[in-house]
Amino acid sequence: MKKLWGGRFQKTPEQWVDEFGASIHFDQELVEEDIMGSLAHVKMLGKCSILTANEVEQITKGLKTLLEKAKKKELTFSVNYEDIHLNIEKMLIDEIGPVGGKLHTGRSRNDQVATDMHLYLRKHVSIVVELIEGLQKSLLNKAETHVETILPGYTHLQRAQPISFAHHLMAYFWMLDRDKQRFTESFKRINISPLGSAALAGTTFPIDREFTAETLSFDGIYENSLDGVSDRDFIIEFLSNSSLLMMHLSRFCEEIILWCSQEFQFIELDDTYATGSSIMPQKKNPDMAELIRGKTGRVYGNLMSLLTILKGLPLAYNKDLQEDKEGMFDTVKTIEGSLQIFIGMIDTLKVNKDKMEKATNEDFSNATELADYLSTKGMPFREAHEVVGTLVYKCIQLGIYLKDLSFEQYKEASDLFEDDLYDIINPYEAVRKRMSAGGTGFEMVKKAIEKAKTTVNE
Ligand code: ARG
Repeated sequence: MKKLWGGRFQKTPEQWVDEFGASIHFDQELVEEDIMGSLAHVKMLGKCSILTANEVEQITKGLKTLLEKAKKKELTFSVNYEDIHLNIEKMLIDEIGPVGGKLHTGRSRNDQVATDMHLYLRKHVSIVVELIEGLQKSLLNKAETHVETILPGYTHLQRAQPISFAHHLMAYFWMLDRDKQRFTESFKRINISPLGSAALAGTTFPIDREFTAETLSFDGIYENSLDGVSDRDFIIEFLSNSSLLMMHLSRFCEEIILWCSQEFQFIELDDTYATGSSIMPQKKNPDMAELIRGKTGRVYGNLMSLLTILKGLPLAYNKDLQEDKEGMFDTVKTIEGSLQIFIGMIDTLKVNKDKMEKATNEDFSNATELADYLSTKGMPFREAHEVVGTLVYKCIQLGIYLKDLSFEQYKEASDLFEDDLYDIINPYEAVRKRMSAGGTGFEMVKKAIEKAKTTVNE
């Protein structure tokens, strides 16, 4: 099969070699972006009198026909034309005749593919930001109904101090806020046009790069044509931001998985976000949370892959760069899917308030309250820590909790104890009183929720 670039060749590769080199089986994802880029390019060729008005009209019409077909998924791509760019060019020539061959004037596939990728990521970054906000809103909703639901907070996965469940959820809200900021800030580096860099050196045709950039709603153009065709930083940045996002989702998944275990029973996932076992009839598995945790690995992998592809790559375009696409498409699909699933999982989540509260009553996560109590009465905190630690040890020996010790037993440990100590060690009170900025006190959490609301679009 004769190639579009076949002039200087005497032989053509065998089919299986063609298939190895081709990208059409995955870069057809860029079909709409590719045609949009071509429409802007041909418009510019007309404006700069490089093509006649009539030629521009014919090419534009042909491209629009292809765009309509692309939207209806009516185009059939062929591995014989290697990639999306050559497939579209071939289809255009088939559609309107040899004049279609004028489209590629003053352009190369190198700036074309880079332009497509910028257009593609620009679209998806906006979708991702919206989905992150969607999840933030789901968290806000849940948090609002659970300000006074208390559960043990953990360090080292050991019960540490009681906290508000809303406070715990809001920790994820703020992680997502940083993710959202990172994606939003990256937009200005994505929304730059490489079009007109041509193969690597620019072109002798009197093109107008600003014009194509504006037509495609880019905010500016690459200053250097070599950089324009070989930069993939914007994709690495996207993959890096995606990795951070997935790391956050994965940590959350881990907690969700723990919380719905028989050992915790803090929450129950809706049936629609869980699966059963093919052998054990009693099972209800948190598959979706596990999958998101697992998919985090492939997102990290895609980041490492592209960093490695770029390392040591000389300027300007090298075919290695074709390997940038699958990881990017996969990451887009993975993070958009994970966010969508997460929203549904949170919206339908059942919170076992009683189990959470019960856990705070059956542990020593109120021990800090008692040490703080003694130190407000003048005992150096280090000594107070020792006194309470000894009391905890005693309780463990007796198989009871701090609330079960008699007042006499407290007095024996320190004369500073008064009978108000029993209010102090009430976990609900312990949470309520943590009113330092950013703390878990109920009023503080309510304020934090109000502030958080101002960061998401209603
Ligand atoms: N399919 C190629 C890619 O994805 C397009 C650019 C090809 N350019 C070239 N000079 N071979 O990178």
